Amino acid sequence: MTPPLDSPQKKGKSIHIALGVGLTALVALLFFLRLGLFEGVHPRLYDLSLQARGSLSAPQEVVIVAIDDASVASLGRWPWPRGRMAELIDLLSRAGAKAIAVDVVFLPAGEEKASGNDRLLGEAVQKAGNVLLPFYFTLGKSREERKKGETPPPVLSSSFLLFDDPKKFSDFPPPAGIEIFVSVPEVMRAARAMGHINALPDADGKVRRDPLIIQYDDHYYPAFSIQVAATAMGLARGDLKVNVSQSIRLGKITVPTDSQGKMLISYYGGNQSIPHRPCIDVLAGKIPPDAFKNKVVLVGVTAAGAYDFLATPFSSRFSGVEKHAHTVAGILQGRFIARPPWVSFVELGLVLLFGLALTFLLPGRSPAVRLILCLSCLVILGVLMIGTIRQGIWMQVFFPALTVIFQYILGAVRGARAAEKEPPVSAEATAVMTREVREPTLSGGTLRIETGGPRQKIDRYEILGELGHGAMGIVYKGRDPLIDRLVAIKTIRFDRLYEEQDIQRLKGRFFKEVQAAGKLTHPNIVTIFDVGEDRGLSYMAMEYLEGDVLSKFCSPGQLLQVEEVLEIIAQAAEALDLAHKRNIVHRDIKPPNIMRTSEGQIKVMDFGIAKLPSSTLTQDHSVLGTPAYMSPEQIHGEDLDGRSDLFSLGSILYELLTGVKFFSGENFSAMVHKITHENPPPASRRNPLVPPAVDEILNKVMAKNRNDRYARGKDFSKDLRKVLQDMKKNPPQA
Ligand SMILES: Nc1ncnc2c1ncn2[C@@H]1O[C@H](COP(=O)(O)OP(=O)(O)OP(=O)(O)O)[C@@H](O)[C@H]1O
Ligand SMILES: [Mg+2]
Repeated sequence: MTPPLDSPQKKGKSIHIALGVGLTALVALLFFLRLGLFEGVHPRLYDLSLQARGSLSAPQEVVIVAIDDASVASLGRWPWPRGRMAELIDLLSRAGAKAIAVDVVFLPAGEEKASGNDRLLGEAVQKAGNVLLPFYFTLGKSREERKKGETPPPVLSSSFLLFDDPKKFSDFPPPAGIEIFVSVPEVMRAARAMGHINALPDADGKVRRDPLIIQYDDHYYPAFSIQVAATAMGLARGDLKVNVSQSIRLGKITVPTDSQGKMLISYYGGNQSIPHRPCIDVLAGKIPPDAFKNKVVLVGVTAAGAYDFLATPFSSRFSGVEKHAHTVAGILQGRFIARPPWVSFVELGLVLLFGLALTFLLPGRSPAVRLILCLSCLVILGVLMIGTIRQGIWMQVFFPALTVIFQYILGAVRGARAAEKEPPVSAEATAVMTREVREPTLSGGTLRIETGGPRQKIDRYEILGELGHGAMGIVYKGRDPLIDRLVAIKTIRFDRLYEEQDIQRLKGRFFKEVQAAGKLTHPNIVTIFDVGEDRGLSYMAMEYLEGDVLSKFCSPGQLLQVEEVLEIIAQAAEALDLAHKRNIVHRDIKPPNIMRTSEGQIKVMDFGIAKLPSSTLTQDHSVLGTPAYMSPEQIHGEDLDGRSDLFSLGSILYELLTGVKFFSGENFSAMVHKITHENPPPASRRNPLVPPAVDEILNKVMAKNRNDRYARGKDFSKDLRKVLQDMKKNPPQA
């Protein structure tokens, strides 16, 4: 049974959980609302994941014949006379091209017709038999905007024929054309098939999708790239089928689309990632004849200034023909990027998973751990994003990432507030931590009383030897010659410990405290006989005790019997009860301040001494003190009452039973955190001889909130003695 968390922490945690769940719900709501504000982020992440995926090797099957800068430089500016285009088509056809896609719309031009060039080009297209030609639309919002004009028959006969359910178009309308631009009839007539070349950039101007279907009048027209791919695959019009709002089937290949028939272009990379052949080289016969054999050849303009650049995730200067080539190559290779219907569910699932997991994981963690946890979540999402795009799935991780970020901020804000609420660590606690043995003070010159030589004295007390030393000074064994009684003399060198201006005040306080403590008459409190000063050395004479301080019984090999421990603590608790009744708080209950005499009696020592602050002089020696026995309220510098001593005595009880100093830590702040926030595991778990009833007593006496502790030392000792009685009745089986 682990002790319950104390209530403020519990309350803080439940507030955090409520906020965390609320934030998760908020992100889930945003996920459904699809606000424009956030929608711009998805394409950016998409570009990032494509870039992270890197370039892919394009299929050898697709080649671009580029009317590039070199071609224009040597053959004159674009547009060229159409006779030259006829010559090019002828060449490519004779070289064995599988499909020749000419990305040029040959609009009517008087001189071309007059010179017979249109006719020549038409003949070349006819002769090749596998030439594909484009047309383009002006897109409009509604059919009402439709401009007058007949649809030319070659265009009409290129429209899609087969649909799974054309009625669905009313729910998922594709883009609609209101005006069409086509090549001159002589050329168009001869084309194998035609398709539109409209591009639809996203809001940020980048072209990520190809609209594969455009509606014009009552017909639905395929993209140029679809026609090129279909021809390359040897398919006819009847082999194409539209699954409205889902996909387009080209024979065996299914091209996934969004609900409007747009396909994400799985770009192979940046410029020229699909091989380019300069048109001039083709015309000049510099290209080996087999370069086009069985290839899908796309002819288009790439010369600067001759066309409008497109921006893509990989490049800001992409030519139209290059974009078509990427789409065609993707279809031929069956390489797509899509958002299958289930992917939204996964995204929502990730929002909930990360949101709720972090809601429960973050509270109570250190800032570093919170950061690591959240960064790990983001890394997981990043890996997922790039990993899925490699598999052709676009997972939009933005909302899951937003949840992680929100949870991180929540954690940071709550953490900061908790730290704010956390009372500061008291000067007393820090002072104890930096308290030290001032060895030079003790041994320097006449300060240490030499015990070996002629008999030394402090006032009338004869010094017989040294009993030990603490932070304040040395404790000597002495004799009071007046009544021939052994005494212990605790000495304090104020002048070596404190600044000049503090000494009188502190001495006054010391004598007052010791006088008050001296009035305590109890068998379990060391009796103080006298205080005084001799040649600058302040001292306190008390009853001399033979025995051991409790520190001796704290380590695992030295533990006392459980009954004995309970007896010791019960006696100490009774001693404290009396002191507390007199409004004296010990403040420094720790194993070295409790002695077990050789007769087995317990004596609590050093009442009142702890009120002296630690040395105010610069300290340059090893750190000795530890606030390990301080109560939470003492750590925070609150006003103390007897319950603080009871907490400390509880810590000693735990240590005497288990051999574990629970409130210790690698550093000061770790220790402070333990004292103020953590509860030790049950003592009975560490020492099976400890009865469970003692666990409950420990829970109570070491409660973080003093209101939950025993009000009096008596109550504490009473409970301990009850357990002792029970143990006597039913001795534990070892
Ligand atoms: N009345 C006494 N009779 C016998 N020995 C004593 C007596 N008082 C103190 N001692 C011995 O002197 C040692 C030093 O005691 P002192 O109180 O100076 O240091 P401390 O309690 O270990 O540390 P701190 O200075 O933090 O209180 C004790 O550990 C004990 O062994
Ligand atoms: Mg002491």
